[in-house]
Amino acid sequence: MKHTVAEFQKMKESGQKIAMLTAYDYSTAKVMDEAGIHGILVGDSLGMVMLGYENTLSVTMEDMIHHGRAAARGVKEALLVIDMPFMSYETSVRDAVINAGRLIKETGGHAVKLEGGAEVCPQIKAITAAKIPVMAHIGMTPQAVHAFGGFKVQGKEKEAAAKILEAAKSVEEAGAFAIVLECVPEALGKAITKAVSVPTIGIGAGAACDGQILVFQDMLGMYNDFKPKFVKQYASLSDTMKSAYQTYIREVQEQVFPSSEFSFL
Ligand code: KIV
Ligand code: NA
Repeated sequence: MKHTVAEFQKMKESGQKIAMLTAYDYSTAKVMDEAGIHGILVGDSLGMVMLGYENTLSVTMEDMIHHGRAAARGVKEALLVIDMPFMSYETSVRDAVINAGRLIKETGGHAVKLEGGAEVCPQIKAITAAKIPVMAHIGMTPQAVHAFGGFKVQGKEKEAAAKILEAAKSVEEAGAFAIVLECVPEALGKAITKAVSVPTIGIGAGAACDGQILVFQDMLGMYNDFKPKFVKQYASLSDTMKSAYQTYIREVQEQVFPSSEFSFL
């Protein structure tokens, strides 16, 4: 069954939780899609986990199109969302619509995601009017890393929490079909989820959100530069991979591999 924006809305209304993960390439997206994931995000987190940058600011439209297109080929049923990279939508409503259009046309994705509250509502309205569904992203928005002075939990103080709640209401009003809530206290995640009628997708925003999203390398335990508190590792792939590589190196050196089984006779 194809997962759609309309289905995400129905899931919120019926209390069925939405499970999303990130993916940035064909084979990863294909396995996730076959596992039954509801939504896949080609996140600009690819700058960190795929390209090794310290943050997401250097990610380009070309990077997003390159990875978006690769992931799209692996997706049959999931809702595929493509991140708008830093400075592809802030500069003007026109830039935002043109770049959202490129992301959809050149990748085959179904929706775009952008970061921010009231300040990006004109963009959300215009992209939505162009018939491209928009996922909003508020709370700890990584593209604002320098404005925040680091990747820190947002909305801990009463006033800051009220501002994030306002941001949620404004992006809903502007037409966002769902809202990513990143790194906010559990109670704020719950309050926002109650206050808006569109689904909230949490990452470090507690259990009350209508759905959850994690970066796939984080949840597989294959990105160990740092481990945020909200990451649950469902596997330890870097350990598994390292030991496979070591076995291979040893077998090549000891001439165990390739045995005749792996040779053309
Ligand atoms: O880029 C990304 O992976 C994201 C999610 C973590 C929400 O924006
Ligand atoms: Na992102």
